Amino acid sequence: MGTRASEAQPRLPITYRRAANGDRDAMLRVLRYANFHHVPSPEMPELDIARFFVAEDGGTLVGVAGYKVTEDGRGKTTLMAVEPAYRGAGVGQRLQELRMDAMRALGCTSVVTNADRPATIEWYKRKFGYREVGTLAKLHEFGDPDVDHWTTLEAPLSASAAGRAKSA
Ligand SMILES: CC(C)(COP(=O)(O)OP(=O)(O)OC[C@H]1O[C@@H](n2cnc3c(N)ncnc32)[C@H](O)[C@@H]1OP(=O)(O)O)[C@@H](O)C(=O)NCCC(=O)NCCS
Repeated sequence: MGTRASEAQPRLPITYRRAANGDRDAMLRVLRYANFHHVPSPEMPELDIARFFVAEDGGTLVGVAGYKVTEDGRGKTTLMAVEPAYRGAGVGQRLQELRMDAMRALGCTSVVTNADRPATIEWYKRKFGYREVGTLAKLHEFGDPDVDHWTTLEAPLSASAAGRAKSA
C-alpha cells in the first residue's frame, strides 16, 4: 500500500543494524532454523559478531547475515538465515545488500558464497549476479542435511553491481 513495487523493501516493519556482542544467543536461535548453529565447528569455527548484520521485528531478531574479507582481499559471505515465518518478504535481500555494501566499502571487488539449498543458489544467481564456480564437500552436517556439498558462487562487487543491487 503506497510502496513502489520496484523497491527492495520488506512488507514488514523490520529494522536493520549491525550485530552487537549481546546478540550472540539470538543470532544462534535464528541460525538454528537453517541448521547453521553449529558454532564452533570445523565448518564455522567462530561467529565474528562485528561482521554480521541483523534484522529485527520489534526487538526480536528474525534474520542474520555475516561476511568477511579473505587473505587475498576478496569478500566472503559467512552465514545467513531468516526465521521461516519472515521468509519471502525481502528480509534476506536487504541483509544481502547490506553485507555486499559492507564488503565493497572494505575494498572487495568480488564476493564468494557457499550455498547448499537449490532454491537459495538460484536466488543468489537471479538477484545478485552470482555464477557457479565450483563445489566443496561439507566437512560435517551443516545446513541442509540432504546436501553433502557446497556450491561455490561468485559475484562481482563493482560499482555497477552496487547500482543494480540498490534498487531502494
Ligand atoms: C535464503 C534466505 C536467507 C532468504 O531469506 P528471505 O527473507 O526469504 O529472502 P527474500 O524474501 O529476500 O527472498 C527469498 C526469495 O524466495 C521467495 N519466497 C517466497 N516465499 C518464500 C518463503 N515462504 N520462503 C522462502 N522464500 C520465499 C521470494 O519471493 C524471493 O524470491 P524473489 O527475490 O525472486 O522474489 C532464507 O530462505 C533462509 O534462511 N534459507 C535457509 C538458509 C539459507 O539457505 N541461507 C543462505 C545460505 S548461503
